[in-house]
Amino acid sequence: MTALLGVIGDPVVHSLSPLIHNSWLRSAGLDAVYEALQVARGDLQPSLDALERRGALGFNITLPHKQEALKIAQKATPIAAKIGAANTLKRLSTGGWQAENTDYSGFLTALKAQSEQDIASKNVLVLGAGGAARAIVHALTEKGAYPLILNRTVDKAKALAKELGGPDARYGSLEACYDEIASVSLIINTLSLGHQGKYLDLPRGGERLFFDISYGAAAKAQLTHASTMGWRICDGIDMLVGQAAASFEIWFESVPETQPAIDRCRHIVEKTQ
Ligand code: ATR
Repeated sequence: MTALLGVIGDPVVHSLSPLIHNSWLRSAGLDAVYEALQVARGDLQPSLDALERRGALGFNITLPHKQEALKIAQKATPIAAKIGAANTLKRLSTGGWQAENTDYSGFLTALKAQSEQDIASKNVLVLGAGGAARAIVHALTEKGAYPLILNRTVDKAKALAKELGGPDARYGSLEACYDEIASVSLIINTLSLGHQGKYLDLPRGGERLFFDISYGAAAKAQLTHASTMGWRICDGIDMLVGQAAASFEIWFESVPETQPAIDRCRHIVEKTQ
């Protein structure tokens, strides 16, 4: 029987994950298919129950289900439990699901591809305090960086700083952003502002890195502005493919080739802009 995998979220229609994974499945000669599955908030548990009955092998989980997925899973890796969110589920042979977080490693792989610079002891500005920011702040802290978390809802930035930011983490409101940027070595943007066609005003970058985890139309206005202000820019395609590769490895114990997937995603994104 053809094995079923997929990405579960709302919205998912524009996800590049089916393209990435189906091409890896074909290259590896695996009898499996990867689909985009639209599931509304509150419907994750019944959907996963139905998919388990269909013999599904595993899923990527995206907005708005990452925290719920961790709660539903029977088992979780220490990293997923610590981050408090899962973006990957693997069916357990005993029934139910194992929760993993590959946003964490996907982010670190993407950051390394951008810069060999060691981030230990560096001040790193993280914009946003949602599910993706949680994985990123944990990754930064593990690497010895000092995160500064700025968010519209300051209480969420505070909670994230206290839970995952290490002893030197700072937090604040987005209003502080422009002034705080002078003290940071790089910026990671996880805000979903770009989906609403908006962007944050930045001072001059001076060749520092501005890493936006969005891509395509959602990242365009912010990255164009950052580039104009002299920032070295990077979108979220490397991270997308990095987390996908880590998920594929969890499901099939086989490491897929990432560069062709990155090139293909970039080509599609450029064509549709
Ligand atoms: P993800 O899991 O990808 O991080 P998310 O949990 O929805 O997605 O987080 C989106 C982030 O964008 C949040 O930090 C959110 O701020 P709040 O915590 O205050 O909601 C931020 N965001 C969304 N729309 C925004 C807007 N119009 N202005 C400023 N920040 C915004």
